[in-house]
Amino acid sequence: MSSNKTEIGFVSIVGGGPGPIDLLTLRGLERIRKAEVILYDALLDPSFLEVFPEDSLCLYVGKRSGQHSRTQEEISGLIAEYALQGKRVVRLKGGDPSVFGRLAEELEILKTNSIPYEIIPGVSSITAGAAALQTSLTLRGVARQIIILDGHTIMEDNKSWVGMENFQGTIAILMGTRKIKELSLKLIEKGISPNTPIAIVENAGGKKEVHSFSTLECSKEKGLPKQTDGPGILYVGEALRILLQKETNQETSVSLT
Ligand SMILES: C[S@@+](CC[C@H](N)C(=O)[O-])C[C@H]1O[C@@H](n2cnc3c(N)ncnc32)[C@H](O)[C@@H]1O
Repeated sequence: MSSNKTEIGFVSIVGGGPGPIDLLTLRGLERIRKAEVILYDALLDPSFLEVFPEDSLCLYVGKRSGQHSRTQEEISGLIAEYALQGKRVVRLKGGDPSVFGRLAEELEILKTNSIPYEIIPGVSSITAGAAALQTSLTLRGVARQIIILDGHTIMEDNKSWVGMENFQGTIAILMGTRKIKELSLKLIEKGISPNTPIAIVENAGGKKEVHSFSTLECSKEKGLPKQTDGPGILYVGEALRILLQKETNQETSVSLT
């Protein structure tokens, strides 16, 4: 790698949103249109390809469900390599770069090589999923906190569950839709009431967006079947009670005062 400072380019780390291009920010779009090199993730709609400049070098570096096109080290290396060649690089990520996006590793290599960069936030799937449910993740007097869990590795980590029995809020579990039964069981074991509502949202923000509801108790036994092969988020918490009750036509017990 060359370290000639006069030739160093610039890296824009862009949050692409939950999939559809109309949930990309204007600033992100502007950087993409001026990019010479674009390294992009999985989970972005094919319509993104239409806004990539024709003369830019576009490299797919996505990782989905264990199918990794490149290792993280390779991705970080490519970003630095092109920037050190003096290119305007866009690193386009799904959702927001700061949420389970390996942002820290990519920043480290940029800092190590004194490469100038910016981070452009994106609409996270966490909030896109809430919009799909037409709900608020916080609810006055009911849900004062939100925690975001990595469903892929959380089972192996005992520390993250400490104090869960006292948690009053909404849990958003990413990368966990293949383990809904196990996650439901674990949450009950850790002190969350079996009666707590849960929802799964798939393809939030997109044309194939779907959702369904259950309770921890039910999904401990039956799971909450996925309806598509797209990405999904599992939400757990009392803020979903009204939605579950609407779905099952039961009386509401949540006070909105
Ligand atoms: C590696 S994480 C990246 C999260 C991303 N940085 C964000 O802010 O949304 C990928 C996970 O995000 C969730 N996800 C991403 N896009 C989604 C979508 N459109 N609908 C539902 N879940 C989505 C899924 O849980 C997926 O397994």
